[in-house]
Amino acid sequence: MTLFFHTQRLLIRNFTASDLEAFLAYRNDPAAAKYQGWSLPYSRELGEAFIAEMEDVHAPKQGKWLQLALESKETGALIGDVAFCIKDDDVRQAVIGFTIAHEYWQKGFATEALTALLDYLFEDIDLHRVVADCDTENIGSWKTLEKLGFRREAHFVESLLTVEGYTSEYHYGLLQREWRAKAAFRNC
Ligand SMILES: CC(C)(COP(=O)(O)OP(=O)(O)OC[C@H]1O[C@@H](n2cnc3c(N)ncnc32)[C@H](O)[C@@H]1OP(=O)(O)O)[C@@H](O)C(=O)NCCC(=O)NCCS
Repeated sequence: MTLFFHTQRLLIRNFTASDLEAFLAYRNDPAAAKYQGWSLPYSRELGEAFIAEMEDVHAPKQGKWLQLALESKETGALIGDVAFCIKDDDVRQAVIGFTIAHEYWQKGFATEALTALLDYLFEDIDLHRVVADCDTENIGSWKTLEKLGFRREAHFVESLLTVEGYTSEYHYGLLQREWRAKAAFRNC
């Protein structure tokens, strides 16, 4: 089964080889990479290996990240990606990640894509809990999570060593029943 979701403005689908140039462009943008786990420059070889791995993943596998491309329905452009990883030690919990190319920020795309992803995680594969973490200075990230209903559960101070030194992190969590309550409200 291929993972494929529609939202109002997006196709959320597996990566394909034709995504490479757009993917390298936003992965190499310092604004998009600032709080992320990869270092710059992000090479063509890494991009090719990433796409080769992701275009062949069609179902979640415990302990492995599954990253999906966000394609604009209007233009066909690749505008970012969303990802999740089901925890090694609990098949009903997952971590999520997300990146939107800089030119598409603050147009609601992360909220739209993550709403579809959370519907899939909570409703289609019946997860109990989804978590995410972000740098405390990554305002766009934690505002997006809070808009989706995630609860800030921890503030770790200078907990993560990066190239810029120690940074602080917020950890967020959302339960299936909380998502369902929010969805019921959304639909009425
Ligand atoms: C974080 C990120 C995905 C947000 O994407 P986006 O498409 O701009 O988010 P949305 O448009 O859906 O915005 C969701 C909410 O966050 C707010 N927001 C988003 N970016 C913001 C920013 N830079 N500053 C302040 N608020 C911001 C929006 O205003 C919106 O809230 P509102 O509806 O109450 O106004 C995007 O900035 C990004 O890709 N950043 C780089 C990668 C990254 O850091 N990913 C997260 C790693 S943990």
